[in-house]
Amino acid sequence: MHRRLAALADAHGARRLMSLTLGATPVVISSHPDTAREILSGAAFVDRPPKAAARELMFCRAIGFAPAGEYWRRLRRVAGAGMLSPRRLAALEGLRRRVANGMVGRVAGQMERCGEVAMRALLQRASLESMAGSVLGLEGDAVGEELGEMVREGYELVGTFNLGDHYYTTLWGPLMDLRGVGPVCRRLAARVRGYFGKIIEERRVAGDCHQRDDLLSYMLALPEDERLEDSDVIAVLWEMIFRGVDVVAILLEWAMARIALHPDIQSKAHKEINEVVGSHPITDSDVPNLHLLQCIVKETLRMHPPGPLLSWARLAGHDAQVGKHVVPAGTTAMVNMWAISHDQNIWGDPWVFRPERFGEQDVSVLGSDLRLAPFGSGRRACPGRMMGLSTVQLWLGRLLQEYEWLPARPIKLAERLRLSMEMKEPLACHTVRRGEAA
Ligand code: HEM
Repeated sequence: MHRRLAALADAHGARRLMSLTLGATPVVISSHPDTAREILSGAAFVDRPPKAAARELMFCRAIGFAPAGEYWRRLRRVAGAGMLSPRRLAALEGLRRRVANGMVGRVAGQMERCGEVAMRALLQRASLESMAGSVLGLEGDAVGEELGEMVREGYELVGTFNLGDHYYTTLWGPLMDLRGVGPVCRRLAARVRGYFGKIIEERRVAGDCHQRDDLLSYMLALPEDERLEDSDVIAVLWEMIFRGVDVVAILLEWAMARIALHPDIQSKAHKEINEVVGSHPITDSDVPNLHLLQCIVKETLRMHPPGPLLSWARLAGHDAQVGKHVVPAGTTAMVNMWAISHDQNIWGDPWVFRPERFGEQDVSVLGSDLRLAPFGSGRRACPGRMMGLSTVQLWLGRLLQEYEWLPARPIKLAERLRLSMEMKEPLACHTVRRGEAA
């Protein structure tokens, strides 16, 4: 979709703004940093267009789809203070490091048993453990399989194209759910409520919220007048896990594919780690000194942004000027970040994976520079961006520190876009312990 839309914008000379209709919904798409900024930071575009699966799965009561009002601001504050602020991130570093150690150990085990490492399953498991620890305080065997299954199912459902979403302004909208996404979502939502409801109850009975370090305990320990209803607590916890698990694993899989494909870059990264860190396991405080490592993550975000269309679009709440055009209220506005980050007027050799480009020019990926804003921008930008980045940098660093990575079979960089853009064919690698390779 992102490639087709980019080609269409080029064919019509409409990179700044292209207008089309999806079903009964008017849509505008920006493939240019200037108009992207006007949309993402514009006062008119702070809400999201309705999406039936997101509503059924409770995301309207969570941050992602709540209307941009007082409730939404409150949720962002709570999620920040309970999990995503720099202070909370630092407190959760121990968890991320424990999960990284487990992952490094599993790599060795898989190589011994199978002669190759199935990267997707490895990274998904690590990401699930990290989110389950940060959000629910669950670690190790306590994480179980059910949570991962629910995330995977939800991901399929939200990623499924639902014709009704594009006819929501008409009476037929609800009748156009031809794939029956609605009933399946309702069944999953009931399961999610049961799962999280039980954990909330157990935490209340244990009465140890003040001694624990996870988002759930923080939310339950809020003063009476700030406390959320249980159903809203569930919506937020579920959203955090849902949003955090896949996207981190997907970005790491792309990064590891690039590492295995580019031995020259890999050996420079090994050298940097040897020189800067030495033999102690990499920590968050080493990362600011690992410039190439940071550049590799940025270049992966540029070439393989997990949300090439920034995942969830924006909705014009009132008529708004974008560039030379008036965008009417009710229009869905999208940014094709993939098109921007592959634009040869902005990036030299956009099709070449060259992390060093970020040593030559400093580009922030956090939303201030619209040439590369994979976490969105403006008031609705991703609140988990620091957590996502720190996790990916730390784990990529640890995987590189411990092993040399080689493709187990030829790597294909084909994409599959569902809610996020993942590798079409899961990555498999061979590894050699670094001490042994020397
Ligand atoms: C590599 C990691 C990640 C990427 C690339 C990413 C990307 C994005 C993007 C593109 C958006 C839409 C922004 C916009 O409309 O301007 C978004 C929103 C969001 N993300 Fe992330 N994300 C990542 C990690 C996370 C994590 C770890 C969490 C939470 C634990 C998270 C939670 C959210 C939430 C709650 C929203 C909705 C914000 C709102 O509507 O106010 N994300 N993310």
